[in-house]
Amino acid sequence: MARFLLVFLFAVSLRLVFGDSSTTSDLLWPQPSQSTFGTEVYEVDSGNFVFNTTSASTLLKSAMDRYYVIIFQTAAPFFPSGGATQPKGPLTGLDITVTSTDESLNLTTDESYDLKVGGDGASITATTVFGAMRGLETFSQLIYHRPDGGLAINEVKSITDKPRFQYRGIMIDTSRHFLNLHTILTHLDAMVYSKFNILHWHIVDDQSFPYDSYTFPDLAAKGAYDHEHIYTQEDVKTVINYAYERGIRVIPEFDTPGHTQSWGAGQPDLLTPCYANGQPNGKYGPINPILNSTWTFLTSFYQEIDNVFRDNYIHLGGDEVRFGCWEGNPDIQAWMKKMGYTDYAKLEEYYENNLIDLVNKLNKSYVVWQEIFDNGLKIKMDTVIDVWKAGWEKEMDAVTKAGYNVILSSCWYLNHISYGEDWKKFYSCDPQNFNGTDDQKSLVVGGHACLWAEWVDSTNFMSRMWPRACAVGERLWSPKKVTDVNGARTRLLNHRCRLLTRSIRAEPVGPSYCNDEWHGP
Ligand SMILES: *[C@@H]1O[C@H](CO)[C@@H](O)[C@H](O)[C@H]1NC(C)=O
Ligand SMILES: *[C@@H]1O[C@H](CO)[C@@H](O)[C@H](O)[C@H]1NC(C)=O
Ligand SMILES: *[C@@H]1O[C@H](CO)[C@@H](O)[C@H](O)[C@H]1NC(C)=O
Ligand SMILES: *[C@@H]1O[C@H](CO)[C@@H](O)[C@H](O)[C@H]1NC(C)=O
Ligand SMILES: *[C@@H]1O[C@H](CO)[C@@H](O)[C@H](O)[C@H]1NC(C)=O
Repeated sequence: MARFLLVFLFAVSLRLVFGDSSTTSDLLWPQPSQSTFGTEVYEVDSGNFVFNTTSASTLLKSAMDRYYVIIFQTAAPFFPSGGATQPKGPLTGLDITVTSTDESLNLTTDESYDLKVGGDGASITATTVFGAMRGLETFSQLIYHRPDGGLAINEVKSITDKPRFQYRGIMIDTSRHFLNLHTILTHLDAMVYSKFNILHWHIVDDQSFPYDSYTFPDLAAKGAYDHEHIYTQEDVKTVINYAYERGIRVIPEFDTPGHTQSWGAGQPDLLTPCYANGQPNGKYGPINPILNSTWTFLTSFYQEIDNVFRDNYIHLGGDEVRFGCWEGNPDIQAWMKKMGYTDYAKLEEYYENNLIDLVNKLNKSYVVWQEIFDNGLKIKMDTVIDVWKAGWEKEMDAVTKAGYNVILSSCWYLNHISYGEDWKKFYSCDPQNFNGTDDQKSLVVGGHACLWAEWVDSTNFMSRMWPRACAVGERLWSPKKVTDVNGARTRLLNHRCRLLTRSIRAEPVGPSYCNDEWHGP
């Protein structure tokens, strides 16, 4: 049965990718909001091609430089249907118009663009430079190799495109395993190819503290795996700038008060000592909320984070706080008594409320895991709640009823691997498919894929992430009605081949082949 299925799949994929039924839109991932293609084919004049713009933006200039390389120095796909017609042309340039000089990236950034390719030439019109970048990506995807080896592009009567959601993220975990800088930067490139715009950097956790704090150098010196497994301030700047140049926001997560074992080595007294039989047993629990020193530390630490990370949002974590150690500690017991607390959830609430006050004073906004909402804490109305647990439909309903912006990650845990085409499962999850009013649905600002890294490091990060994350990319960019899995498979097979030509080590989608197979290192 399995064998039959594989043969069947093989036949289907070959017919779809290389058969005469290929259409221009089969080249695109994610699918644009609206597109109309014509029947003309234009040769692309690789010798004389220019990007033409009156914009003085250096962001746009570097994007044009990148796409020049992508279009003319990587192998475009071979596309038989496109080669059937005698090409016109040649197309010698692309006009790019950007109407606003606002280059800030946040939840209201306009990433829309219009694209045309016709007898009068090719053009992209966008409000912001980031919209123009999304348009350049689409333009680059439309260019293909004709059988005679020349480059060509099919007529585009119009593409009018914009994202369905503003928050289209991927979470990486650099604590369970360190990811080298090259891997992170290559990942940012790959994100752009599927129009993602947020890197959620789960930078530290129990296992290691690779962030090299300038205020508290001991955190990394004693909490990283070793001195090679550290992101220096220079490295962090490199990631933030590289991301910004590509229209990607970096939202760092410093998860507290749980998930903080690695913080303890470099910051004495920060973690709660655990007790057994009336004696400290040498183990430590969550951050100790009852000491003044904890709050002095956290104030300076988050001030630094505010300075280093330019985005308006940070992720405060707040998930999976275990009470065992707090419960056994006599100092905490005495403090609880003094405060009149009988429930350790109250202590958690005390911690979170203090932390939130502290971050509010920095004028920083925050994303938090859903527990912070579930515990009824006093969070600002611009807080984004990250729904990650099973039963997400009920949670999204509750969060949006309370008027908060929400993002979904429950459906998109890419670290959960299974045999077969599991991208279809990610693809079919729609973050607005819960019971709620239209007003509630409008508070869904997007979502993110997660790749927790217990079993992932730089050897397998790229192939486990890609192309599976692409399914999430299209779900978050394309209109709600784009749900056809068979059509998506055709385009995903093409997109995966494209990723290979762009040096992204993306694993196979299913039995198939690429004209230009992986021959990288
Ligand atoms: C560049 O754009 C200007 C106006 O936007 C136009 O006049 C000129 O012909 C364009 N040049 C090319 C090479 O397309
Ligand atoms: C995004 O940035 C623009 C320009 O700086 C600003 O006007 C707008 O209020 C910001 N939006 C949010 C949601 O922060
Ligand atoms: C901790 O801070 C509080 C409030 O500022 C103060 O009243 C208290 O004396 C401090 N405790 C210690 C041990 O310094
Ligand atoms: C926060 O914003 C308020 C009001 O806009 C301003 O007065 C204050 O100086 C800001 N604080 C910081 C730390 O930026
Ligand atoms: C939504 O409401 C319908 C009708 O009350 C119910 O059958 C369904 O289970 C609900 N779905 C979710 C995800 O709660």
